[in-house]
Amino acid sequence: MMRGFGAWMLCALALTLSGCDKFGQNAPGKSPFASVDITGSSVGGGFQLVDHTGQARTLGDYAGKWVVMFFGFTHCPDVCPTTMAKMADVMKQLGPDATRVQVLFISLDPKRDTQAVLAQYVPAFHPSFVGLTGDEQAVAAAAKAYKIYYREAPGKTPETYTIDHSAGAFVLDRAGKPRLFVADNLPAETIAKDLKTLMERG
Ligand code: NI
Repeated sequence: MMRGFGAWMLCALALTLSGCDKFGQNAPGKSPFASVDITGSSVGGGFQLVDHTGQARTLGDYAGKWVVMFFGFTHCPDVCPTTMAKMADVMKQLGPDATRVQVLFISLDPKRDTQAVLAQYVPAFHPSFVGLTGDEQAVAAAAKAYKIYYREAPGKTPETYTIDHSAGAFVLDRAGKPRLFVADNLPAETIAKDLKTLMERG
C-alpha cells in the first residue's frame, strides 16, 4: 500500500518556504528535471542497516555511485513491486551508465522482511539491486531521515498486516547528498532521462 507523494511534496514546499536556496534557484519551468530537485535540502543522511547478503551497510559503502533509494516492504501488493520493476526498466534504459547507479530498497517491515526474504525478492528484479533491513530502531531512523511516513495497517490475520507508507524515490549523488525526489507516477523513460542529465552535470 502506498500513499501518494502529496505528503512529501508538502515537506518539499515547507523546505522551500523555510528558505532553502537551491529550491529558489530552480524556478518552475527552469528545472531540467521532471523529478523534484532537492539539492541542498535537509532530507536524507546516513543509515546503519544490513543488506540482503547479511553484510552491515552504511550509506558510505555506496560512495562513488549514484544512489536511487526507496522504501517499502516485500508483501506490498501493488506499488512496491511495480516500482521495483520500473527501476529495473530504468537500469535497462541507462545502458552502460547503469553501472554507475546503485538501487537500494529499504524495508519498512523488518519483522517479515528478513535478510533471507530480501535475498529472494530484491535481486529477482535486477541482479545489482540491494535490499536493506535492520532492527526496528535502525529502520525507523532511516525512514525518519528521509521523512518517510509508514504505519502498520491490520489485515485479516495478525500475519497479513500491510504497511501504509510514502511512495517515491530519492536520488543521491556520489557523495550521498540528496539531489532528486522521484515521484511515484514518473515513467521509467523519464527517470532514466533525469538520471542521465544528473550524471552529466555531476
Ligand atoms: Ni507499498
